[in-house]
Formats: sequence, structure tokens, C-alpha cells
Amino acid sequence: MLIEFIYTSYASEPFLSEQLTALQKQCQDHNNPNQITGMLLYDNQQFMQVLEGEQAVIEALFKKIKSDPRHQQVKALIHTPITERNFANWSMGLVDISDSPDRPECIEFPLTHPSSLSQRLLIAFSHHFEDAI
Ligand SMILES: Cc1cc2nc3c(=O)[nH]c(=O)nc-3n(C[C@H](O)[C@H](O)[C@H](O)COP(=O)(O)O)c2cc1C
Repeated sequence: MLIEFIYTSYASEPFLSEQLTALQKQCQDHNNPNQITGMLLYDNQQFMQVLEGEQAVIEALFKKIKSDPRHQQVKALIHTPITERNFANWSMGLVDISDSPDRPECIEFPLTHPSSLSQRLLIAFSHHFEDAI
């Protein structure tokens, strides 16, 4: 069963852009062969990640992610079946919105289904949860 899994967390230490790029590469190298897609949003030490894939694969990955010392306070928000992927073309897209002057207008999410829950959550995140979902 295809699922969408969304969580938030806080980086243990602020990530430099090179560290974010290295993390993205690590994600892509593992996600690509395992049919995992999604995106990782980073905003001044806060993460939000959308993971899409087979339930067992995503649950196994989330166990590893949860125990990764690079972040903490890992909080699962959404775990739900989906019929189609929202990030079909991203083995892990990375969007760094730290210090973006015009959030969220400056962000273009590559979503296949623009009114999806993922998009609403991502926009809410980019507003620092000012907008309730
Ligand atoms: C914010 C964050 C997001 C991550 N996302 C993924 C991911 O999408 N895919 C992945 O394989 N690893 C991801 N990781 C890395 C995993 O936590 C872990 O380091 C990786 O799966 C390798 O684990 P292993 O050495 O036990 O195989 C992420 C780590 C962090 C801190």
C-alpha cells in the first residue's frame, strides 16, 4: 500500500547549506532504488519532510530517521494511504527557506496535485504554522 508520511523535527545543530546538500544526496541514493519520493523542507533549524512509498519501506526508513542524532523532537504528523504520489519526480527534493524574505511566495512546490494535504502542510510550515490546517 502506498502511503504518505509527514513529520517535523529540529536539527540538533544548524545545518550549513553544504550539509543540507550532503543530506539530500544521502537521501536520494537510498530513496531512488527503494521507490521513495518526497521533499525535505528546512527553515532555520526546523525540518518538515514528506515521504511517499510502500508502507513497510517508509515505516522502516522512519525508524532510522527517528534515531538519527542530526535532529531531535521528531514528531509524526500524517501517516495516510494515497492513491498517487505528489512528488513523483523527486527522490528527495530539498527546499531551504531559511531567511527567505518573501515566504511563502518565493517557494514553488513541485506538486502533482496542487490542493493536496501535503501542499497545505508545506505552506503552513513555511508560515511557521501561523495558518491552521
Ligand atoms: C531530516 C532528515 C531526513 C532524512 N531523510 C532521509 C530519507 O529520506 N532517506 C534516507 O535514506 N535517509 C534519510 N535520512 C538519513 C537517515 O536518518 C539515516 O542516516 C540513513 O537512512 C542511513 O541509515 P543507515 O546508515 O542505518 O543505513 C534523513 C536524516 C535526517 C536528519
